[in-house]
Amino acid sequence: MPDLLIAPSILTADFTRLGEEVSDVVAAGADWIHLDVIDGHFAPNITFGPALIKSLRRVTNKPLDAHLMIAPVDPYLAAFAEAGADLITVHAEAGPHLHRTLQTIRGLGKRAGVSLNPATGEHRLDYVLDDVDLILVMSVNPGFGGQSFIPASLEKIRRIREMIGRRPIHLQVDGGVSPKTIAAVVAAGADVVVAGSAVFDGGGRESYAKNIAALRAAAATAGAMSV
Ligand code: DX5
Ligand code: ZN
Repeated sequence: MPDLLIAPSILTADFTRLGEEVSDVVAAGADWIHLDVIDGHFAPNITFGPALIKSLRRVTNKPLDAHLMIAPVDPYLAAFAEAGADLITVHAEAGPHLHRTLQTIRGLGKRAGVSLNPATGEHRLDYVLDDVDLILVMSVNPGFGGQSFIPASLEKIRRIREMIGRRPIHLQVDGGVSPKTIAAVVAAGADVVVAGSAVFDGGGRESYAKNIAALRAAAATAGAMSV
């Protein structure tokens, strides 16, 4: 099992000082920065777009992981690539031409991800497995931080881990990941976890370091779990 990557979602960070928040969470041990782009159409809530990502690009060299909860998505892919996102993840439910969308992302020189909502089955991935670098299992409904983890996600993570086989694809889980749920998520097969409220709780670099350490410690118990 490769080392676990932790991707804090800035959705619950302090937006008045976002640059510092990103520097702090990187200093605290974040591996990637997860950016939730929501359009109020594909998913409820409205967040931010490429301009903000371009600004954050100046703050860190860590991979910027853009999770696009927008429809349509194709017209905006180039803008997110130019803004400096390293990974661009789209939802399988966001448009009829997933394969074309993934090809476009790779054509822009970026790593391509596909995300599934909680009610979407893993078979949506059957014919795109060789076209993705990352699969994102949503373990809450997209839109907001701070929701409860949906337990049925665990079975989906296990099935997708099997489907991936030996392909070099990251399996990422997003929503309700905390020290309480992370061991089950990792035991099921995730190698990248997104955490918003569980990381940004408390505010400040020291809290973030403590929160990330708590996540890693809880994840390390995954080997002992029977799933
Ligand atoms: C929800 C977002 C998540 C969310 C995670 O639409 O995709 O990234 O911010 O937040 P927590 O970890 O608080 O559930
Ligand atoms: Zn997300």
